[in-house]
Amino acid sequence: MPPLPRNDPRQYDDLAGEWWRPGGGFEILHWLARSRGALVPPAQRPAAILVDAGCGGGLLAPHVERLGYRHVGVDLRRAGLEQSAARGVTPVTGDVTALPLADGSADVVVAGEILEHVPDLPAAVAELCRVLRPGGLLVLDTVNGTRIGRFLTVTLGERFGVAPVGLHDPELFVDPGELTVECAKHGVKLLVRGLRPSVTGLIRWLFLPTGPGPGPLGRMIPTRSTAVVYQGMGRKQGEMA
Ligand SMILES: C[S@@+](CC[C@H](N)C(=O)[O-])C[C@H]1O[C@@H](n2cnc3c(N)ncnc32)[C@H](O)[C@@H]1O
Repeated sequence: MPPLPRNDPRQYDDLAGEWWRPGGGFEILHWLARSRGALVPPAQRPAAILVDAGCGGGLLAPHVERLGYRHVGVDLRRAGLEQSAARGVTPVTGDVTALPLADGSADVVVAGEILEHVPDLPAAVAELCRVLRPGGLLVLDTVNGTRIGRFLTVTLGERFGVAPVGLHDPELFVDPGELTVECAKHGVKLLVRGLRPSVTGLIRWLFLPTGPGPGPLGRMIPTRSTAVVYQGMGRKQGEMA
């Protein structure tokens, strides 16, 4: 069979065994999920909902499970959703550019490493903001389309196994300025900061058979430069009802 085109979401079915494999191909996603989860505050009301757009295998689940939200995960691919469900996430099959969720239904919307996979960025941002209730929090991280972002993530990343081959289309990588403008159109003032992986964690993961192992070594570190990977967060205008 010919290989699937770049960024084809069906690749995640073939990679389903990687989501939770210790030291596996999605290791960096675990580090990012921890960093993302650290930005989510405890729920402020009993029936609070956290929507995890493009949830994949549910890597965010352990980082938000004690915060008091119902964790709803939306993804195109069943294989990932099944693993999310096994970790307590309510699985919903859907596209982030047409979320099957009501307006203002989420207290928190999380979009981790998904926007760089979506051909229609404005539509995705509009949907993330639509399902967010006034006063609710948007938390995201994604990859920048700079030359260095493309080089490290695709050219070098795929060569050294940091990113699975063919999973990204660098043409879809996201400019933080454009993302900020799109969010502002929907009442979310996004603040961004750069992230980089810990160098020791990266070396241990790539070159030692045991990987970084549990603990603080494998982690993302905030940086001033947003040139490669960055996080964004912002609240939607208006009062929480
Ligand atoms: C890089 S993974 C990130 C998964 C998860 N957010 C994490 O950080 O571990 C991207 C996920 O987005 C999903 N995806 C890609 N395009 C999508 C779309 N248009 N709508 C919903 N999910 C999508 C893929 O199936 C995959 O599970």
